[in-house]
Amino acid sequence: MLKFILFLLPIFLYSATDIYKTGKNLYFSKGCSGCHGISATGTNLYPALAYRRKPFLISKLKDYRAKKGSTQQSQMMIPFAMGLNDKEIDALTTFLSEYHENKSNYKPDMSTRGDGGS
Ligand code: HEC
Repeated sequence: MLKFILFLLPIFLYSATDIYKTGKNLYFSKGCSGCHGISATGTNLYPALAYRRKPFLISKLKDYRAKKGSTQQSQMMIPFAMGLNDKEIDALTTFLSEYHENKSNYKPDMSTRGDGGS
């Protein structure tokens, strides 16, 4: 198991920029993944967030944070957005707009040894 982790570590460190990684950590630690999904693809109840344009995501989060929401559904987002500062919004939206996770992040394929996936 340790060997396995040591094999993955350089790939992980190499492929992730700091702000992207911060955003990814926030996405899980702030509970976003609970509604929007671990791959940020949403469900029938929650909108997808991955690959959306960053300015759109930022303006949405800032609106929710200011308790502005046009739909009843948006009431759900307000408490989560209120806990975010500008830096966190920046990191989260970088992660979401540049989303480049893939299945191998969850289930590594040991048969391919590339250059770290850059
Ligand atoms: C309790 C469930 C829940 C959680 C947790 C949650 N969201 Fe949401 N989110 C929603 C719902 C529902 C909407 C749709 C609201 C609407 O209709 O305006 C939404 C909308 C959004 C939107 C706007 C997307 C669009 O297409 O309009 C963004 C951006 C967003 N959420 C980001 C986040 C982030 C970042 C987090 C973590 C800090 C988070 N959400 C946590 C339920 C949730």
